[in-house]
Amino acid sequence: MTAEIIDITADHENAIARACAVLADGFPVAIPTETVYGLAADATNPAAIARIYETKGRPRFNPLICHMADVAMAERYAVFDPISRKLAAAFWPGPLTLILPLKPQSGIHSLATAGLDTVGIRLPKGFAADLISAFGKPLAAPSANTSGKVSPTSAKHVAEDLGGKLQLIIDGGAAPVGVESTIVRVEDGMIRLLRPGGVAAEEIEKATGLAVTRADGPSAIIEAPGMLASHYAPGAAVRLNAEHVESGEALIRLGSAPIKGIELAKEVFDLSPSGDLAQAAANLFDYLKRADATGAIRIAVTPIPDHGLGEAINDRLARAAAPRD
Ligand code: TXA
Ligand code: MG
Repeated sequence: MTAEIIDITADHENAIARACAVLADGFPVAIPTETVYGLAADATNPAAIARIYETKGRPRFNPLICHMADVAMAERYAVFDPISRKLAAAFWPGPLTLILPLKPQSGIHSLATAGLDTVGIRLPKGFAADLISAFGKPLAAPSANTSGKVSPTSAKHVAEDLGGKLQLIIDGGAAPVGVESTIVRVEDGMIRLLRPGGVAAEEIEKATGLAVTRADGPSAIIEAPGMLASHYAPGAAVRLNAEHVESGEALIRLGSAPIKGIELAKEVFDLSPSGDLAQAAANLFDYLKRADATGAIRIAVTPIPDHGLGEAINDRLARAAAPRD
């Protein structure tokens, strides 16, 4: 099988109609979202969800984020507390996922929630939102990549990785945010950060007036089981906080500070010449893939500030650099 690729700028209506037809048939479709490309399937259809896992080669059933068209749809499936409602009002549609109690008999299949009594919900922007409205049901969607690989931020990334396993890829251009959504859970009036992502923790604190607490240690791993070490792995090894370049390395840098040995680099990729973290996040996965494709023995990455979107960038880089199993 070779996936059909439909460009939404050329034919938006056809893209929606074709995607709805494949989804209604119980098959996944790769779609653009503002964060990364998603492998979307009907969240109420167990066979369709199983095909997501099969296509990604995911070793086990992790809970998937269920994407909704609007707040009214989200309220049909999950129970909102006042703080979660405030977060939804501030950041939806956008790169924020809320973990909420699932409504009984909501229709979302337990394969999408991995049998948990909670559900991860987000309202995406753009084509994905239009598609969910047209389809009329929530779409479960992890990133559209083989399990453990770098997430795709373009239709080309998806085609190179999964093109042989998919019927349809929708091309909506480069994903503007470039890292996955921030995942939070409100518990006992506190906002717990389960995964840093496209909404910076500082923005959440500003919008709610509440402190964001970091979930770390084993409980975080249990609650967000997709977040294991050695995720987002390119083929080459990754060396973080590099202050010099070694022969045979490709360099990913941020900003224009001088770097020792830069002339030894196989190739240099600058996440953002002006040091802008949003631009850096948008380029991150594409540059990891391109650095990998140079055939470098290793990818050296200069230090990235840990504030704002830097937290999500550093989280993904740490996973890319983690020991492989
Ligand atoms: O930006 C994104 O979030 C992208 C796009 C496609 O929307 N999706 C994405 O999905 O990153 P995925 O499957 O790669 O990540 C889902 C994460 C996992 O770490 C999973 O453990 C967590 O969400 N998750 C989902 N439902 C959960 C739940 N009920 N409780 C705790 N964690 C949950
Ligand atoms: Mg993923």
